[in-house]
Amino acid sequence: MDSRHIQFCFDKSRIDFNQVQELFILGAFWAKDRTIEDIQIAIANSDPVVTVWDCDRVVGFARATSDGIYRAGIWDVVIHPDYRGRGLGGKLVETVLTHPKVNKVERVYLTTTNQQSFYERIGFKRNDTTTMILENSRLSNVASLLEQQASQI
Ligand SMILES: CC(C)(COP(=O)(O)OP(=O)(O)OC[C@H]1O[C@@H](n2cnc3c(N)ncnc32)[C@H](O)[C@@H]1OP(=O)(O)O)[C@@H](O)C(=O)NCCC(=O)NCCS
Repeated sequence: MDSRHIQFCFDKSRIDFNQVQELFILGAFWAKDRTIEDIQIAIANSDPVVTVWDCDRVVGFARATSDGIYRAGIWDVVIHPDYRGRGLGGKLVETVLTHPKVNKVERVYLTTTNQQSFYERIGFKRNDTTTMILENSRLSNVASLLEQQASQI
């Protein structure tokens, strides 16, 4: 299939949230249960957000969060199953990496369950030792601990 007409877009105002939700259901196992409202919040707080378009159809998505100089994270990289294996995934990640919010940072983080080889081709290195994760339930425990401590002062 010819991919020359496929477009990569940074414009958040163009995003069709229903299509992004459908793309997650179809192609992103970690994001199948996301609501439109939560997807809107994630997109509003991410920069850049890249959507991939085949005419008026969303066939790819990726987003980053960044402090602009030290650290950035790339999230929710997905290409529609019908469009995989044509170089679009690689170009999608490259498009995120070349955005001014990301291209100056010292280090770009991403987590992936089973696509390590795909990212290695782009230049990422495996790193099993430095990443720690705090799940949201623990965050609320920390918040109540801080509240308790504040009430004791
Ligand atoms: C991962 C994903 C985005 C790749 O998209 P894609 O459009 O198929 O990728 P590309 O066609 O650009 O592939 C680029 C290269 O990586 C290779 N590649 C793609 N997926 C790969 C994989 N899982 N393992 C090893 N190599 C892979 C391709 O063969 C290609 O190699 P080439 O440049 O030598 O031809 C896509 O498979 C996807 O959406 N997967 C489901 C969602 C997912 O797991 N996302 C990553 C979560 S962090």
